[in-house]
Amino acid sequence: MKEYFADFLDKSSYQKLSAPPQQQGLPQPPLELPWPASAELIALPAPADLVIPPADLRKTIEARRSLRHYDLSQSLSQSELSYLLWLTQGVKRITGRPATLRTVPSAGARHAFETILLINRVEGLEPGLYRYIATRHALLRLDAPVDIEVELMTAAGEQEHVVLSAVTFIWMAVTERMTWRYVERSLRYLFLDAGHVCQNLYLAGESIGCGVCAIAAYDDAKVNALIGADGVDQFAIYLATVGKK
Ligand SMILES: Cc1cc2nc3c(=O)[nH]c(=O)nc-3n(C[C@H](O)[C@H](O)[C@H](O)COP(=O)(O)O)c2cc1C
Repeated sequence: MKEYFADFLDKSSYQKLSAPPQQQGLPQPPLELPWPASAELIALPAPADLVIPPADLRKTIEARRSLRHYDLSQSLSQSELSYLLWLTQGVKRITGRPATLRTVPSAGARHAFETILLINRVEGLEPGLYRYIATRHALLRLDAPVDIEVELMTAAGEQEHVVLSAVTFIWMAVTERMTWRYVERSLRYLFLDAGHVCQNLYLAGESIGCGVCAIAAYDDAKVNALIGADGVDQFAIYLATVGKK
């Protein structure tokens, strides 16, 4: 185990960076994965119009716990889902570079994540798999097996809160968005970035009466296969379940 960390730290030594694609003049990867031009996006309630009662930050942080059982009689509203997506990956601005500035920090504003959602109980949305199109604040329906929630639970070591959740967030890292600038540092930055995103979900959830539970114990290959990630250039980096208390 010691060797593993030594190897990782040695390879990611800041002094040893090989020439990043950015410095080689290679084009920056797109800010977001493309989606089919023919696809109909599902607009989410606009962030500016969300009516969410204010929450005290200290109380919210102190009250936060990981919750694995949810009120199955309650769905999330689309406004609540919009709020959770906005506070975890919402695009506040696209700068001239271009880069996205979002509600979470990211190393070098690389923002290398796509948010995939397993939706079980959200008002007005068919259960299934969706992708958050952050630059449009909209959802894209993805193809998925009919029992996707069971398959995802199995891929996550039978953790039942995946099927019990109103929504399960799956953050997918698109590595080239980070490696373009940071080469060997990228892995570290991707995992650090993921922590910020999930913490925002915990706090945003807590502020609207939802419980959240982070999930990092899962079969990478199985989860990657379900979300269409190849496991090298794209991979599931972190999951989290959400539901009403
Ligand atoms: C990186 C990380 C991975 C986690 N993975 C899981 C998981 O796979 N399944 C689970 O039920 N909880 C998971 N958790 C939740 C922790 O078990 C939980 O945060 C911890 O027990 C402390 O409880 P609290 O969050 O209520 O304070 C994870 C938390 C973190 C930060």
